[in-house]
Amino acid sequence: MNLLLALLCCNTCGLLKDKLNENSPSPRIIIVGAGAAGIAAASRLLENGFTDITILEAENRIGGRVWSIKIGDYLADMGGQWVHGEKNNVAFELAWPLGLIERFDENHNFSVRFFGSSGSALSLKTSLNLVELHNSMTNDLADVENLPESFGQFADMKMDKFFKAHKEISPDLYDSLRYMTNLGQMASDGADNWYEVSAKGLRDYAICDGDNSINWKNRTYSTILDILMKKYPNPDEELPVLENVYKDSRVIKINYNKGYNTVKISTADGEEYLGDHVIFTPSLGVLKANYQRLFSPPLPEKKVEAIKNLGFGHEAKILLYYENPWWYTDENKYNSKGIYWTKADREEIENDPERMWMLGLFALYPVEHKPKMLCFWVSSDFSIEMELVPEEIFRQQILQVINKFFSNHYNITEPTKIIRTSWNTNENFLGTYSYRGIESDLADVDYTDLAEPIMRNNKPIIQFAGEATSEHYSTVHGAIDSGWREADRLINLYPRKNDLLKLLTRLTEKKNK
Ligand SMILES: Cc1cc2nc3c(=O)[nH]c(=O)nc-3n(C[C@H](O)[C@H](O)[C@H](O)COP(=O)(O)OP(=O)(O)OC[C@H]3O[C@@H](n4cnc5c(N)ncnc54)[C@H](O)[C@@H]3O)c2cc1C
Ligand SMILES: *[C@@H]1O[C@H](CO)[C@@H](O)[C@H](O)[C@H]1NC(C)=O
Ligand SMILES: *[C@@H]1O[C@H](CO)[C@@H](O)[C@H](O)[C@H]1NC(C)=O
Ligand SMILES: *[C@@H]1O[C@H](CO)[C@@H](O)[C@H](O)[C@H]1NC(C)=O
Repeated sequence: MNLLLALLCCNTCGLLKDKLNENSPSPRIIIVGAGAAGIAAASRLLENGFTDITILEAENRIGGRVWSIKIGDYLADMGGQWVHGEKNNVAFELAWPLGLIERFDENHNFSVRFFGSSGSALSLKTSLNLVELHNSMTNDLADVENLPESFGQFADMKMDKFFKAHKEISPDLYDSLRYMTNLGQMASDGADNWYEVSAKGLRDYAICDGDNSINWKNRTYSTILDILMKKYPNPDEELPVLENVYKDSRVIKINYNKGYNTVKISTADGEEYLGDHVIFTPSLGVLKANYQRLFSPPLPEKKVEAIKNLGFGHEAKILLYYENPWWYTDENKYNSKGIYWTKADREEIENDPERMWMLGLFALYPVEHKPKMLCFWVSSDFSIEMELVPEEIFRQQILQVINKFFSNHYNITEPTKIIRTSWNTNENFLGTYSYRGIESDLADVDYTDLAEPIMRNNKPIIQFAGEATSEHYSTVHGAIDSGWREADRLINLYPRKNDLLKLLTRLTEKKNK
């Protein structure tokens, strides 16, 4: 925008202005989805002089799986919360120099203790040993020559060894702790259980080195959207992204019939949009459920294989706000609390459809810089069940479950606010984040197959972005990378315009000096 304004004001560059118009068609670009990937793509294109950009978003807000809400005195993340790593992590690179984020390790002493449904608890030492085992598992994958198919098979071997070495743990608890560790692993992988996750996939995952639990202090991850749009730190430099977003615009058909170079998009509210290029960013969950209806003609076979066989997981958060926090008697009020069900309790709950979801509860942890808040994490497809429980019953259940696990150890108080997520049942997400499963390996597909654009006359006509198309799949930084990648694909396709605009900028800058 600044460039074009500059262009209009620049009387010495009339010649260039004409040349620009003559040589550079302004392609109509439609971006489906205003999540991190969509916002990143739009910002990058606008920054590079593309002007005809339409962003269609099904929700009535931007951000997608980056979403913060107000709870009590705080803003809190319903979705993406931590910056996972530093090296090759665009989110870190954008936010760290601005002083907005904080490394966990430098500012907190990590501690965790595991509490059982019987009211007893593991010692702090055993709890920490178990976490250490869990944390080392993925690293250890690199040293194994013949990896089993699933991560679960590998983890079982590791846990058997651990139990042999830790005689203080009662054999009655082996299954409970195995199950709990599985849920913990699923919190990061997003699969329903660790036998579905590819061991090779975890070994090969592009982890960013550095601290992997970097928090946004009293802010939330949605600040990244403002940074991408250049609204932060200097609002005067804001790119015109928001004014090109059409909210409540759910795309239901993407027509890219042969013979046309134009894509026709229809939305649920009956509007139609024409584009030269479409960047599609909705989740893999949305693709799995809708790809057959959405695209005409049908998507290429390899793309369909990728959509069907890459994994998309289920998770939920329950945010709890306390006027009177009950856990401050801990040595460190930022200690995490893991939970495990005894065999008897598990069997009882398994047979109660309304409470069954509780078996997905994995950890109750404090949120950095928000000392009156706890977050209860629900792993795996149990989180779908949780979303279906009516509000009043759910509230009672939360109080009961916290009492069951913690009332032997703390004087429990009641939360004044309870907010749960609904990513899995919301038709615009249908899950949380993607993973490479054993099915993906069997079908020989990975994120690159999902990223492959559909070409027409040597030009990308439908492009795919979003976390699941990135080597950093399942993260916000992966989503941003993917949005930039697809923006760059178009920037490279129209180099002439780009070069001229750069030249123009340089001239304008000179003139202004
Ligand atoms: C509970 C949870 C915790 C997480 N924790 C972390 C974390 O700590 N760190 C981290 O890095 N990542 C985390 N993630 C993952 C991260 O949030 C996502 O990977 C990332 O935000 C995905 O961005 P995206 O742009 O690819 O997709 P999305 O954010 O899903 O954006 C796609 C957009 O498309 C819209 N849409 C869907 N269907 C249509 C349609 N038919 N028409 C128009 N628009 C449509 C959606 O409404 C959405 O706004 C977490 C995710 C969840 C759910
Ligand atoms: C971490 O532990 C050290 C040593 O016990 C202590 O000095 C320090 O204050 C603790 N830091 C925090 C943030 O609790
Ligand atoms: C965060 O804290 C800083 C000072 O520590 C304060 O200036 C700022 O207003 C706070 N921001 C929010 C969103 O609460
Ligand atoms: C709970 O409160 C009682 C009464 O005030 C107190 O005696 C007890 O120590 C408290 N228990 C814990 C675990 O803090």
